[in-house]
Amino acid sequence: MATTSNPRKVDEVRKEAGRLSSEAPTANQLMEGITVLLNQQMLKYNWVGFYMLEPGANPPMLVLGHYRGAMTPHTRIPLNQGICGAAASSGKTVVVDDVKKDLRYLACSLETKSEIVVPVFVRGKVAGELDIDSHFPAAFAAEDRELIEYCAELVGKRLENE
Ligand code: SME
Repeated sequence: MATTSNPRKVDEVRKEAGRLSSEAPTANQLMEGITVLLNQQMLKYNWVGFYMLEPGANPPMLVLGHYRGAMTPHTRIPLNQGICGAAASSGKTVVVDDVKKDLRYLACSLETKSEIVVPVFVRGKVAGELDIDSHFPAAFAAEDRELIEYCAELVGKRLENE
C-alpha cells in the first residue's frame, strides 16, 4: 500500500505548477520549472526528470532532458528498455512500488526504492515522459499520480502550442 503525500502540499504544488505553466515563456522552461518544483517541494520525489523522444530517431529513443537529482547513466533509453521504455511504448502511466521486484527496472541510484513514469502526450501521441524516483518504497499514491499526470499534461499542452 502506497504511503500518501500531505494532501495540502499536493494541492499547493498543483496550483504552483499551473502558475508556472501560465508564466513560463517556453515549454522547455516549463519543464525545467516543474523538475525544480517537484524535487524541492515534494519530500519523496528524490529524482525528477523529463525524457523526450528524439525527433526522427529510428528506432525511437528517449533522451534525458531537464532533471533534478543525482546524475544518471541512463541518458538515452530505447523503447524496449526500462520502466521508461514501458511507459513510452504503452502510453500508460507506470507505477512501481518496489523497483527490486521489477525486471524492467534500469538502476539509476542504489537509493531508489520506487518509481513512477507518466507519458507526455502531444496531439494524442507520446512525445516524452516525466520520470520520478523515490528513496521511499511505494512513494506514489493516487494523489501523487494525479499531480504528476497533471504536470505532464501541462507540458504536453504547452508543447502543442509551440
Ligand atoms: N529507472 C528508469 C531509468 C531512468 S533513471 O531512473 C533516472 C527505468 O527503469 O527506465
